[in-house]
Amino acid sequence: MWTATTVEELRRLRASTPGSVALVPTMGALHAGHVSLFEAARADGHAVMVSIFVNPTQFGPNEDFDRYPRPLEQDLAACRHAGVTGVFRPTVDEIYPPGQLECLVTVPVLADILEGAHRPGHFAGVCRVVAKLFNLVQPDVAYFGQKDYQQLRIIEAMTQDLAMPVRIVGRPTVREPQGLAMSSRNAYLTAEQRRQALAIYRSLGKAKNLVEADRERDPSVVESAMQWVLRENGLQVDYAVVRDARALAPLQRIEPRGLDVVALVAARVGNVRLIDNMVLKPPMNT
Ligand code: PAF
Repeated sequence: MWTATTVEELRRLRASTPGSVALVPTMGALHAGHVSLFEAARADGHAVMVSIFVNPTQFGPNEDFDRYPRPLEQDLAACRHAGVTGVFRPTVDEIYPPGQLECLVTVPVLADILEGAHRPGHFAGVCRVVAKLFNLVQPDVAYFGQKDYQQLRIIEAMTQDLAMPVRIVGRPTVREPQGLAMSSRNAYLTAEQRRQALAIYRSLGKAKNLVEADRERDPSVVESAMQWVLRENGLQVDYAVVRDARALAPLQRIEPRGLDVVALVAARVGNVRLIDNMVLKPPMNT
């Protein structure tokens, strides 16, 4: 497995890689969710390239950029073990050379709601770095986890609207046995907070039951029930909503027209902010 830290090295190594290339962009602190993306990409027959870059432009001023975990040796071992072909792990100056004028790519309809409303500028930072990584690596396909559901929708919209020659593959969220979604930020949780955080998965399960088994059609009923589960377990709720699964627009009613809806949660356990989601399928025959 090669590693590259500069754009020049990356371009050289990329040029000498034959066949179809998959990129899995990451911020490191790799867990089973990331590994499942590497494995899926390999199983689909691609040479797998992984970027490890904690991207400063997607963090707000009071967020966890400085303390974000950076276990590089462990991450490289995980990549090697998963059969990754190459890892690009640039410095901040390599990606954002000092003095270079900033370019912004954004998908306003999706970028300013939910995560975007709570983390202003976050998705502009994500789009900027992902577009740049696509230009540098020139992958045929890129794999992302559905855990970051809004991010996945935005990257799909960006690549479609700007005709980027990269196919986007979204892969299912990988969960711990009791349901907690794998996330690099789980490393911040104490044992007690980890137990509390399970309420996020329970609140999504509650939404699924209400919509799919009880055939509840009023989004506000489902959202209140989700929020209740979270608050009862001491979580602070940023949002717990049911939205249309594509544009993430609010719904008047949950209509069983074959269109999926998605339940999305962002909540804090102590000062650890976690997000999760679940796609719901309202049954047709009501
Ligand atoms: O999902 C992440 O880890 C990041 O947002 C990404 C896509 C690697 C961009 O920095």
